[in-house]
Amino acid sequence: MSADLTIKTNYSLLNYNTFGIDAIAAGFVQLKSLDDYIALVKSDILREKPFFILGGGSNVVFSDHYEGIVVHPANKGIRLIEKQNDRCFVEANAGEVWADFVNHCIDNGWYGLENLAAIPGTVGAAPVQNVGAYGKEAKDVISRVHLIEIETGEERWVSVEDCEFGYRWSRFKGEWSNRYLIDRVVFALRDEFVPDLSYKALASALTERGIEKPTARQLADTVGEVRDSKLPNPKKTGSAGSFFKNPVVNDAVYQTIKSKYPDIVSFPVGDDRFKLAAGWMIEHCGWKGRNLGNAGVYEKQALVLVNRGGCTGRDVRNLADAIIADVQARFGLKLECEAIFV
Ligand code: EPU
Repeated sequence: MSADLTIKTNYSLLNYNTFGIDAIAAGFVQLKSLDDYIALVKSDILREKPFFILGGGSNVVFSDHYEGIVVHPANKGIRLIEKQNDRCFVEANAGEVWADFVNHCIDNGWYGLENLAAIPGTVGAAPVQNVGAYGKEAKDVISRVHLIEIETGEERWVSVEDCEFGYRWSRFKGEWSNRYLIDRVVFALRDEFVPDLSYKALASALTERGIEKPTARQLADTVGEVRDSKLPNPKKTGSAGSFFKNPVVNDAVYQTIKSKYPDIVSFPVGDDRFKLAAGWMIEHCGWKGRNLGNAGVYEKQALVLVNRGGCTGRDVRNLADAIIADVQARFGLKLECEAIFV
């Protein structure tokens, strides 16, 4: 084992999850370099106990204390590795803070990440759930992902196609779960800025600000402001961002719901399929601003569950279950959690 690779025991995860749940991990290890990754997989640590790979902790809820090893990628570094005409291939290590990475790219004239500004979490977590916001998803900008297989220690690159990205989904959440460690990601960006204003609420926010042709910085800042107006300030209120996924239904289901609830907010996604705004449905079940135990539904965005102070994983589970039951009873749809209970 590398001299620097230390396993901390009975380690508080309070500062490692944005919900602010005070769970304790039996073991906690930070990976600060590729050598640390290799040393970890060569050791028997991950074979002896259950483990959980924790990025920025912005999408997890610890139900209880964690009896296994929490593995926390903390390797930093961002570099331009290749330039092909207007294409810039930028490699970032898994432990980089996503929002800092986006800012760094804009400052260096590498464009394409502006709509994904200000999302909490890390670079290494972005491919796992294919983070997305304001009309862009991680899959639109990822070129390839570098992995270390836990069982064999083998290193390999996987392409965007290999990752089988979907809406808040990838193979890393399915058959590849706990099979690989992600140590770095390469993004395909451009040195020419072309704003993506396809998300209506973002385009309107720019118009309201009197900005017709935004610079990359203006676009990213506007995204940050729109997020701030809807999502809780992570420094003040614990949350995991959107707690549920927006359900995607076929035309028949959509028509049935629409005939009963003509105002429901929805977006067509490809042929014959519609994404329904789960926040709208939760609001219409009367949950917006309500609490259960020390967990609550955020008053400005019903898709977001928040920590009202001293919230436990059990409080969040109870609230999520109550919301899922009410939405099912009223709309006939079972909401899926975007956040993961550990
Ligand atoms: N709405 C309501 N009531 C609410 C919340 C939303 O009626 O309480 C309706 C509004 O009419 C709004 C529509 O739902 O027009 C959509 O709301 P919003 O634009 O806030 O987006 P969202 O669908 O609730 C998704 C992502 C967010 C992402 C935004 C913007 C998911 C699960 N969530 O939320 O991602 O920032 O779009 O692109 O897809 C996250 O994943 O953690 C996250 C914050």
